[in-house]
Amino acid sequence: MDVQRTPSTVLVRTPAKLNLFLEVLGKRTDGFHELETLMTPVNLYDLLWFAPADTGDIELTCERFPSVERSGEEASRLPEGSDNLVVRAVRLLAERAGIWASARMKLWKRIPVAAGMAGGSSDAAAALVAANAGWRLDWSREQLLPLAAELGSDVPFFLGRGPAVCRGRGERIEPASGLGILHFVVVAPPVGLSTAAVFRACRPAEHPQPLAPLLEALRTGDAATAGERLFNRLEPAAAELTPWIERLRREFADGEFVGHRMSGSGSSYFGLCRNLGHAQRAASRLRGRGVGQVYAVRTAC
Ligand code: C5P
Repeated sequence: MDVQRTPSTVLVRTPAKLNLFLEVLGKRTDGFHELETLMTPVNLYDLLWFAPADTGDIELTCERFPSVERSGEEASRLPEGSDNLVVRAVRLLAERAGIWASARMKLWKRIPVAAGMAGGSSDAAAALVAANAGWRLDWSREQLLPLAAELGSDVPFFLGRGPAVCRGRGERIEPASGLGILHFVVVAPPVGLSTAAVFRACRPAEHPQPLAPLLEALRTGDAATAGERLFNRLEPAAAELTPWIERLRREFADGEFVGHRMSGSGSSYFGLCRNLGHAQRAASRLRGRGVGQVYAVRTAC
């Protein structure tokens, strides 16, 4: 996440994420699932502009780039009102800081919605950071983290930098260093998926997959093993909900990828590439296949 401040405004550029590994260890009594996941930010960004105001209200307008409609639950609309996670984030911070919440915000969305790339969570983290700076609260990251976890399981990840192993609901973050720069192609198909629906349809692991071999392979540059060890326990559940997962698996099987998997709760699907050139060539081939939005991306901070 990059933050630019002027005396009266804050501009935050906040990334999407991919899950290189996601194991569902069990269902908890609070209805959430216990996870072990390796997430990396990638250089596909939303942009949030924040200006303190004295109107006594929180105003948010959203614009989507590119202006492609996707269908599926949660996918077709960008809420601009109080149910947008961005608005909830700044209201929550104001409430906890005991201040009058008043701001104007504009959100430019590039990260596909309902795609398992955590665009909404990333925006919420950006909103906490922007409001903290714009209202000059000077809260530390440690102070913002519990608010982030209240807003959503993926939100705390975006207050950190770089790849991380996330456990619990996803909110317990341990930075994962030394993975190098990784290149990917990501496809967001025309149909999105609801995170809650995918978790409802998933069966937790009877024999959990270990994460360590993937981390080791990425750290030593063992591409073949890394490709084999990409994993997502939610993929079969998502594939029951939309035929797009199977379609994308077939499309990616032709691309000579190091490995390929669904990200998060879907519906986006990514291929790990050998280098930038491979990612760009694979992206232009997939753009001709009518599979949805195609992005060549790399790991980001
Ligand atoms: O935390 P977040 O609001 O992003 O989660 C959305 C939904 O995904 C939850 O309401 C829950 O149904 C499901 N979920 C889950 N276990 C997790 C994270 C999310 O069951 N660890």
